[in-house]
Amino acid sequence: NIHLYVCRDYDTISKKAAGLVGGMVSVKPNCILGLATGSSPIGMYERLAEMYRDGITDFSKVTTFNLDEYCALSEENDQSYHYFMREHLFRHINVPDENIHIPSGCTQDMEMECQQYDAAIAAAGGIDIQVLGIGSNGHIGFNEPADAFIGPTHLVNLKESTIKANARFFQSEADVPRRAISMGIGSIMAAKKILLIAHGANKAKAITATLEGPITPEVPASILQLHPDVVMMIDQEAAAGL
Ligand code: GLP
Repeated sequence: NIHLYVCRDYDTISKKAAGLVGGMVSVKPNCILGLATGSSPIGMYERLAEMYRDGITDFSKVTTFNLDEYCALSEENDQSYHYFMREHLFRHINVPDENIHIPSGCTQDMEMECQQYDAAIAAAGGIDIQVLGIGSNGHIGFNEPADAFIGPTHLVNLKESTIKANARFFQSEADVPRRAISMGIGSIMAAKKILLIAHGANKAKAITATLEGPITPEVPASILQLHPDVVMMIDQEAAAGL
């Protein structure tokens, strides 16, 4: 049930991915989009902004839920995922502010925040299409390799490898938050459709393990083998191990 597209380059992935997400919005104007951060979807977001500017896609009835957020960074911090989404997508399109959901990493009662986040997704009717990137260790959202899959939205201690990988966005490695809040594997798997985007040689191992390896919480993305409707758009470098 995984439809794999090996694309010529990142630009082709972005165009194709925006076509799929924009197509969903055209067919179902009040759809629920699950969105992701990281560098992988940036090109797709640029395309979606273009589609809005060109009058092709109208986001006025769309609702969005993001996968994750760092703990203890304010929403104004330029490394927060709130900031990222505003800069790369939301300020360029017409999705109403009140329809935008991103977990808060700064709430007093984090357990409550996690519960309420999953409840809000369910109340909205569930996610129609969930966009995912993938970490080089196979993480999705911030679901890190672990002994067991965690279903609901939850707090995460980031792995050393993820902190190192994300340090490039911060002044120093010490500035990278150690904790995050993330939709769980259950929250992600409940989406009706999943779109995973990956490019570059440093994703090749994770992509091979995801598609061809055993389903194991050591490679969180491998659970996607059990989802009924997954589309993966990757470039040749990310596909090198297949
Ligand atoms: C972060 C995010 C993930 C993302 C991953 C890969 O850890 N929490 O959602 O998929 O990084 O990021 P990139 O797309 O920059 O390679």
